[in-house]
Amino acid sequence: MLTGIILAAGKGTRMKSKYPKVVHKVAGKGMLNHVIDAIEEVNCLNINIVIGHGREIVKKSVYKNVNFVVQDKQLGTGHAVMVCDEYIPEEGNVLILYGDTPLLKGETLNKLLNYHSEEENSITVLTALFNNPFGYGRIVKDENGNLLKIVEQKDANNKEIEIKEINSGIYLVNAKLLKESLKKLNNKNSQNEYYLTDIVEILKNENEKIGTYIIEDNNEILGVNSRKQLLEVEEIFKERIFDKHMENGVTITDSSVYIGKDVKIGMDTVILTGAYIVGNSVIGDDCIIGPNCRIENSIIKDFVEVRDSTVIDSEVDNLSKIGPYAYLRPNSKIGKNVKIGDFVEVKNSLVGDGSKVSHLSYIGDGEIGKNVNIGCGVVFVNYNGRDKNRTIVKDNAFVGCNSNLVAPVTIEENAYVAAGSTITELVPNGALAIARQRQLNKLSWVNEKGLLKK
Ligand code: UD1
Ligand code: CA
Repeated sequence: MLTGIILAAGKGTRMKSKYPKVVHKVAGKGMLNHVIDAIEEVNCLNINIVIGHGREIVKKSVYKNVNFVVQDKQLGTGHAVMVCDEYIPEEGNVLILYGDTPLLKGETLNKLLNYHSEEENSITVLTALFNNPFGYGRIVKDENGNLLKIVEQKDANNKEIEIKEINSGIYLVNAKLLKESLKKLNNKNSQNEYYLTDIVEILKNENEKIGTYIIEDNNEILGVNSRKQLLEVEEIFKERIFDKHMENGVTITDSSVYIGKDVKIGMDTVILTGAYIVGNSVIGDDCIIGPNCRIENSIIKDFVEVRDSTVIDSEVDNLSKIGPYAYLRPNSKIGKNVKIGDFVEVKNSLVGDGSKVSHLSYIGDGEIGKNVNIGCGVVFVNYNGRDKNRTIVKDNAFVGCNSNLVAPVTIEENAYVAAGSTITELVPNGALAIARQRQLNKLSWVNEKGLLKK
């Protein structure tokens, strides 16, 4: 049985932010959520998150099912784990992590778990070798390399301060022994804090088997304390994400592309300059995305082109072309082989297979059937000041340029709407609706008014 504890009660003063540190985003996703992803990869089902500063904001930022434990005053890392005591069972192990280390991989936690059980340790501390260990707790070992204790920078003596092996703050501990040693912690140190690190020495004194596991990639334990570090971590993430997609056969033209952590992209898709793709977006094979796109939480199937456009919470089926300068707002579903052209806005609407909305239109709360042509400048007048109403345009209909379809209204199959019409009533199957003034020519009007240019 594995219990997880993620410490996230701190304020993160150096971020200079109104918001708690762990909600700041990296690779399109709050830092704490990255840590939750990692711990989920090792099948940890009991996840406890210690919150304090900005607790409501932190809670709201987490979309997974976890248990929040409030630490009112931040009296140290040991105290943060103490407040979780009632959620720590008597058996199994406890994995302790920080909420501000978004680069940590599930893979590494898995290795830590394996090592811990192979060695039959009571505690295994994840450590790293740093050329500049300043600020970190130092791993103190005897001449045979046996772990003795962890000493904080501020409490270290001259010899200890030279140690290059540091404490990452990540531990795997036997649950029962953790509970017992938490009772023995005190705050008699330079910072008057309850140091979680002291449990190492406590367990050592009880002749428990304790050890360290040295991480291979130091980047994984980088904690974010400032905006500068946030950018550093972002850049490392970017490289990881790009590598993953390129290994899967995706072309990325240059580093101006931004791809969120959870985005999936199919083979032979090309991502061009300035594409920003985040959330749970899934992009199929052989697509062209970009230049200059924003795609959030959307599903783009195969052979689709999205150019200079925005797609939010929407779906685009095979072979369709979106843009340039199209705006697909939430809950738009675009069928196969559809064209949504320049300066077209679509919101909460369906557009059926083979239909075209080529220029300068607003399609709001509509249902467009198959093989429909929506001319230039058509507006779905969906709002009467109080309610939103639906416009239905059935298969093979043709809506002439610069028409207004005042909802609720239906254009039936094969019907035509003359250019410039304002349609307020049903247009029956196969009919032509003309809803505008007939043209009147006042002959010689210009001359009679004396306006003729010499
Ligand atoms: C801690 C370790 C140190 C290690 C370093 C790695 C201790 C005593 N020291 O030091 O050995 O090298 O992490 O980064 O554990 N937190 C709470 N509640 C608290 C205190 C802290 O939730 O009462 C959270 C913070 O939000 C933060 C994390 O725990 O995410 C670490 O706390 P911090 O004060 O930064 O510990 P360090 O002094 O860096
Ligand atoms: Ca820290």
